[in-house]
Amino acid sequence: MKDIVAELEQRRATARLGGGQKRIDAQHARGKLTARERLEILLDPGSFEEYDMFVQHRSHDFGMEKQTIPGDGVVTGWGTVNGRKVFVFAKDFTVFGGSLSETHAQKILKIQDMAIRNRAPIIGLFDAGGARIQEGVAALGGYGEVFQRNVLASGVIPQISLIMGPCAGGDVYSPAMTDFIFMVRDRSYMFVTGPDVVKTVTNETVTSEELGGAKVHTTKSSIADGAYDNDVDALIEMRRLMDFLPGNNKEGAPEWPSFDDPERYDPSLDTLIPDNPNKPYDIKELILKTVDEGDFFEIQADFAKNIVTGFGRMDGRTVGFVANQPMVLAGVLDSDASRKAARFVRFCDCFEIPIVTFVDVPGFLPGTAQEYGGLIKHGAKLLFAYAEATVPKVTVITRKAFGGAYDVMASKHLRGDVNYAWPSAQIAVMGAKGAVEIIFRGADAEGIAARTKEYEDHFLTPFIAAERGYIDEVIKPRSTRRRVARALAMLRGKRLENPWKKHDNIPL
Ligand code: HXC
Repeated sequence: MKDIVAELEQRRATARLGGGQKRIDAQHARGKLTARERLEILLDPGSFEEYDMFVQHRSHDFGMEKQTIPGDGVVTGWGTVNGRKVFVFAKDFTVFGGSLSETHAQKILKIQDMAIRNRAPIIGLFDAGGARIQEGVAALGGYGEVFQRNVLASGVIPQISLIMGPCAGGDVYSPAMTDFIFMVRDRSYMFVTGPDVVKTVTNETVTSEELGGAKVHTTKSSIADGAYDNDVDALIEMRRLMDFLPGNNKEGAPEWPSFDDPERYDPSLDTLIPDNPNKPYDIKELILKTVDEGDFFEIQADFAKNIVTGFGRMDGRTVGFVANQPMVLAGVLDSDASRKAARFVRFCDCFEIPIVTFVDVPGFLPGTAQEYGGLIKHGAKLLFAYAEATVPKVTVITRKAFGGAYDVMASKHLRGDVNYAWPSAQIAVMGAKGAVEIIFRGADAEGIAARTKEYEDHFLTPFIAAERGYIDEVIKPRSTRRRVARALAMLRGKRLENPWKKHDNIPL
């Protein structure tokens, strides 16, 4: 037995070396950790159970029969994050550039199947060169089966992708179908076709970073939900994110002990809204002063900054926050903001995470660029997402709630459960000046000013909506945390089901 165990240890040691010390050193020289080092940081110490360490490819083409490396370019298994089960796969760039072969795919499929069967989240760490070029259709078939499982898992278990090196060709579409994608700055890039193909087909000259680096995907394409400076930061933040997420769609939002009194008042919020209604203020201040311990995990912080989305906790339990940001474009809803928030709302609804919405929105952004870009369809995504959501929905209107955007932002009419307004709220079809210029076209400046004042006094308050019951209560800004926390506590037993359907037809 002693010899057999020694041989096992020897085999394990060889497998753990992946593509060998030279390639490990090259990986480190590029500022990247190896697949196993990454998993050590991601998972609780000693919790990783590795599977299929000895799997090898079966290819005999292009001299591959002479090159077999145990593990075949991906490290798979499960472990825990702060004690909670999570399935993982990490591409090993030191083995054939982490490229996907038939057997490499089978390792991932096994982990996906286990994650779905055991209803636990799955995290993929990407650092790879796409399909194993020596294999052809066997690799393509492998990708197809990974994609199929991504779709079956969608809405059942959280799926997270962290891009830590190259991610090209077939590798991009699996992350694209997961719930969140994060990247490491300056070391990772994602594209369907690389700079060489781009040059050949479109004659554009771009670097990998310009084509698909973290900056592009967090600010322009919105493919990525966030980016971090290095592997360690990224992995630590993934651990933090996991603490906010439920294990599956039946488990409910996780709860952690909180030391922050849910009844806490914050008098500084009484002066958050400037006297001048056109002056901006930072809605993130309200979020940070509302959530437990000021702990907020923002999603897509650098894209469509006119809306803020992210996770926080109230009384220890995860809540999704959506808030118009008056600091950027006056908090207007445009196509990008609508898409960003719609996807976030749908994630929360899939996984039974209550949604808190802070509203200060002057309407939808006018203009040809927006209309030609499909504002109607994109705005409808957010409307659709809020309307179909059956999770608890608590809304607070802090200032403006104008026009269609009033309806969209989790209003009472879209089954908002508890809808509050601050005394500073202005709920109307549009702003006073615009309204008066239309109704009293041709009036002189003095007349316009007088009518504007009249319109403001009459409409720009929360009380008309409150008189109709569209606002359940006008609350003091300082008591926002208390009121929201109490509303969420009351809504814990909420049961609401939409009519049966195969699936809906959200405008895409
Ligand atoms: C086999 C690969 C590989 C691949 C890299 N390697 N990609 N082996 N199949 N796809 C190997 C290299 O031969 C090399 O082996 C080692 O991995 C490291 O690669 P380098 O090129 O030395 O590293 P680097 O300079 O960092 O460049 C990384 C890279 C580049 C940008 C990813 O390797 C590259 O462009 N690879 C090909 C990318 C690609 O076109 N993939 C196919 C996409 S098509 P040695 O032995 O020298 O260390 C696709 C279709 C699927 O994926 C569609 C499904 C929907």
